[in-house]
Amino acid sequence: MTTPPDPQPSLPPHRKVRVDLGPRAYDVLIGRGMLNLVGEFMNQRGMKRTAVLIFDQNTGPLYKPPIWSGLYSADWDFLTIDSGEQSKSLKDAAKLLSDLANKRLSRSGTVIAVGGGVIGDLAGFVAATYLRGINFVQVPTTLLAMVDSSVGGKTGVNLPEGKNLVGAFHQPKLVVADLDTLKTLPPREFSAGMAEVIKYGAIKDKALFDRVAKGVKPDDADLDEIVEKCVAIKARIVEKDEFETKGERALLNFGHTIGHAIEKATGYTTYLHGEAISLGMRAAAWLSVWQAGLPESDARRIESALTASCLPVTLKPGIDCAAILSALGNDKKVAADGRNRWVLLKKLGEATSGWELSGDVVEKAVDLLTKPI
Ligand SMILES: NC(=O)c1ccc[n+]([C@@H]2O[C@H](COP(=O)([O-])OP(=O)(O)OC[C@H]3O[C@@H](n4cnc5c(N)ncnc54)[C@H](O)[C@@H]3O)[C@@H](O)[C@H]2O)c1
Ligand SMILES: [Zn+2]
Repeated sequence: MTTPPDPQPSLPPHRKVRVDLGPRAYDVLIGRGMLNLVGEFMNQRGMKRTAVLIFDQNTGPLYKPPIWSGLYSADWDFLTIDSGEQSKSLKDAAKLLSDLANKRLSRSGTVIAVGGGVIGDLAGFVAATYLRGINFVQVPTTLLAMVDSSVGGKTGVNLPEGKNLVGAFHQPKLVVADLDTLKTLPPREFSAGMAEVIKYGAIKDKALFDRVAKGVKPDDADLDEIVEKCVAIKARIVEKDEFETKGERALLNFGHTIGHAIEKATGYTTYLHGEAISLGMRAAAWLSVWQAGLPESDARRIESALTASCLPVTLKPGIDCAAILSALGNDKKVAADGRNRWVLLKKLGEATSGWELSGDVVEKAVDLLTKPI
């Protein structure tokens, strides 16, 4: 007699963060060895039918085989796009939309993004607009995508006029973060993700900050707990302010006002996003000391945490502070009255938003970035 196959593959231990958005609620699953179970996790959530996986040139060869091996429906297909920010374009979105139409993906179908924030934002935008919106699943493979871009429902592409100027809120139905994928991530990209991890600790969770300040490696045994804490912080903020209308979501912009200005002033080519945010957090930490009562020793701890994760805290020579200051006048997150609103720390683990700062003090903070710690 033969034993019938187990209809429920045994699941590896994993952590789960529920993003509670009522009818748009979903789970973020965090663990290792999860890729061949993506199909099973979807099946458990009623996404049984056709799906199209979207990879980039790096994630396709690495991660298509394990995901594919766990799929038991013939109705799965895949598409691959070039890796890199230039793929987050209307042209690539149009190409993917046509590809989905040619494959006759129906409204009950699912788009699955396998990659970093570029693939997640682009494929998410395609899922949000194809047939006015179909199911979307995120399989983030960068640290930044795991702790930030795969959660919260912001999708979109860039225009020649600026980053993320076209997009839609479209929550995923499921996020599967397999930490083993981080082992193939270039170390510079891992460090860039650490900037956001350090940010979460700084704005909301002192114990998390204390842990990650020592540095984190892709194979650390507690990485699942670290990612879970970051995702939970983002989830709680997104639950309070899903469409970024109430101010709560602004807390996530700690370090981002100057960070975005640095990215813009350097043409988005000198620094990865997380690296620019590292510089922005150093400046915001000192602004917090000068304006919001953060102890100096805490600003220094933020500087050493960034350094421990191999992140920059000093601008590369030749970068013009005046260009950063002028880019600050154009920040996308500027309030309706045209003034920047800053996120500052009162203490480690407690951020407050809505600060208005004088030009002089902002200039002093940008100038600080030309000096070593
Ligand atoms: N939607 C949001 O809320 C949100 C939040 C933050 C950032 N973003 C967006 O995210 C994008 C940046 O995302 P990112 O930092 O993940 O960059 P990315 O998607 O460009 O990935 C970085 C590089 O790593 C490669 N890669 C990805 N996973 C890999 C793996 N496991 N092994 C080897 N190589 C791998 C990619 O091919 C790419 O070359 C930006 O466009 C930004 O605007 C969106
Ligand atoms: Zn960021």
